[in-house]
Amino acid sequence: MIVLMVEHPPERNTSEEERFQDDYYSYFESPENAPRYKPAVSFLDDAFEQQSFSLLDLGCGNGALCKYLPERCDYFGVDHSELAIEYCLKVYPNRNFVAKDLSVALPQLVAENKRFDAVVLCGLLFHTTDKETLEKKDDQELIQFCLDKLLTEKGYLVIIVPFAYGDHPSHNLYARAEWLQNSVEEMLETAKAKIVYGNISLLIGLDKKIRQQKTTPDWFVPDSNADYSNKYAGTYMATWTFLAIPSER
Ligand SMILES: C[S@@+](CC[C@H](N)C(=O)[O-])C[C@H]1O[C@@H](n2cnc3c(N)ncnc32)[C@H](O)[C@@H]1O
Repeated sequence: MIVLMVEHPPERNTSEEERFQDDYYSYFESPENAPRYKPAVSFLDDAFEQQSFSLLDLGCGNGALCKYLPERCDYFGVDHSELAIEYCLKVYPNRNFVAKDLSVALPQLVAENKRFDAVVLCGLLFHTTDKETLEKKDDQELIQFCLDKLLTEKGYLVIIVPFAYGDHPSHNLYARAEWLQNSVEEMLETAKAKIVYGNISLLIGLDKKIRQQKTTPDWFVPDSNADYSNKYAGTYMATWTFLAIPSER
């Protein structure tokens, strides 16, 4: 029997908006971070071979996923950071973006009868917050909503979970990866969805890239100084990718 640890991510010291201002997220666009996006893109590219497909990117940040998507993908990115969306519109003028909180954007999409062949939650689970209060939103509810109300009949829910790991036994890659896998699998099972693809990739050299940044993210702690009571601290980066569809399909 698998016993799940129920734990909550650490409190952030800065809001998402402040972090964009601080250049916190520029590492998303670095080549070392490509394995965060490429497995999912490659799956979708094959699944919708030579056909156009629509994709909704929830919490799109600086739109780095766009770097890897084929032209034939009809992309729509949503983020509540106005700074992030301003940046996206400048860098990817041929793609569509909107600056809105998910609590506003998602019901609007449903009211407009919009559905998508892929709904992407990349770096969003365990990070979804209210912009004003920084209150954490319910990941289970978000997954259920996407599966029930936003996917087309042939659509995929894409869950990408980047995470930090370190050399300490409780921070090792296996322990972290297993905890996240169990946690995502449990949410998908509750939402009556099945995983059709899973991949774990190591982001080689991203630790160096992050350390070169002006500000080191508050979750990123070099091993020698790591607070090992904090399950989220770590030195290196990896990414889980899961693609899921409703179980009855
Ligand atoms: C860790 S970043 C990931 C960015 C991007 N998906 C990527 O991986 O390249 C999380 C993003 O989710 C956005 N976000 C968090 N909660 C949100 C909400 N309730 N509504 C809209 N965007 C949200 C943040 O502004 C931030 O850009």
